[in-house]
Amino acid sequence: MSETQTIARREAAPQPCPPPAHVAIIMDGNGRWAARRGLPRVEGHRRGVEAVRRSVRAAIDLGVRYLTIYSFSSENWRRPPAEVADLMGLLKLFVRRDLAELDAANVRVRIIGDREGLSPDIAGLLIEAEERTARNTGLTLAVAFNYGGRQEIVRAARRLAEAVAAGTLRPDEIDADRLAGALDTVGIPDPDLVIRTSGEQRLSNFLTWQTAYSEYVLIPDFWPDFDHGAFAAAIDEYHRRDRRFGGLSEKAG
Ligand code: IPE
Ligand code: IPE
Ligand code: MG
Repeated sequence: MSETQTIARREAAPQPCPPPAHVAIIMDGNGRWAARRGLPRVEGHRRGVEAVRRSVRAAIDLGVRYLTIYSFSSENWRRPPAEVADLMGLLKLFVRRDLAELDAANVRVRIIGDREGLSPDIAGLLIEAEERTARNTGLTLAVAFNYGGRQEIVRAARRLAEAVAAGTLRPDEIDADRLAGALDTVGIPDPDLVIRTSGEQRLSNFLTWQTAYSEYVLIPDFWPDFDHGAFAAAIDEYHRRDRRFGGLSEKAG
């Protein structure tokens, strides 16, 4: 076989699809998972934390570079105080128990969301999680906590307005990149894939700006049942999509 034929063959070989660089997950259905079993909602949240651990391992195994998880929304304060306290307690437990392991796995933790008004112990743990893992180079795990997409855009707009008022930014310098750079997610690429469990079909104020061209995979199972197989299946579904970004299909030719 001539050298050109060898090269032609090599080029024709099917290439494995690269994994989505950034997967963002709306972890929903803990309460319903528990209710189906006659258990208190907090038990669903506890089992949800185990699903988070599985998902981090699966993301690393599947070659995902950025994983964002929606753990507490700006609107979740509307829940009964006892449930809010349970969720705060589980977050603290997660950071205390899992931070060393995440660090050892070379995971870099980022927290997105509003830090104002959080209790000092939680605020301190969030800073500790970020600082301890800041130099890690593996998976970036972005935890959306006290997070709302609209609130994040408002905070970004305010930052830009302050720069204009201070004379360090001209209004005509504000473009999409500049706004994105003022969001909590600065430096993190937009999600390629958004997964939501529990059968709901809405964004619930998650990554409002960043998901403009994300693919959505909505799965009926509740979050505590999410595992490596479900994650891999969602990525398979993502690979069957045709992302056009307003242009024409590359797949159909
Ligand atoms: C997701 O499960 C966890 C959080 C929103 C914090 P839910 O608590 O929303 O469970 P359902 O949707 O009521 O079943
Ligand atoms: C979205 O779930 C928030 C999180 C997963 C943290 P919700 O259960 O709060 O969403 P809605 O209220 O059903 O839209
Ligand atoms: Mg819910």
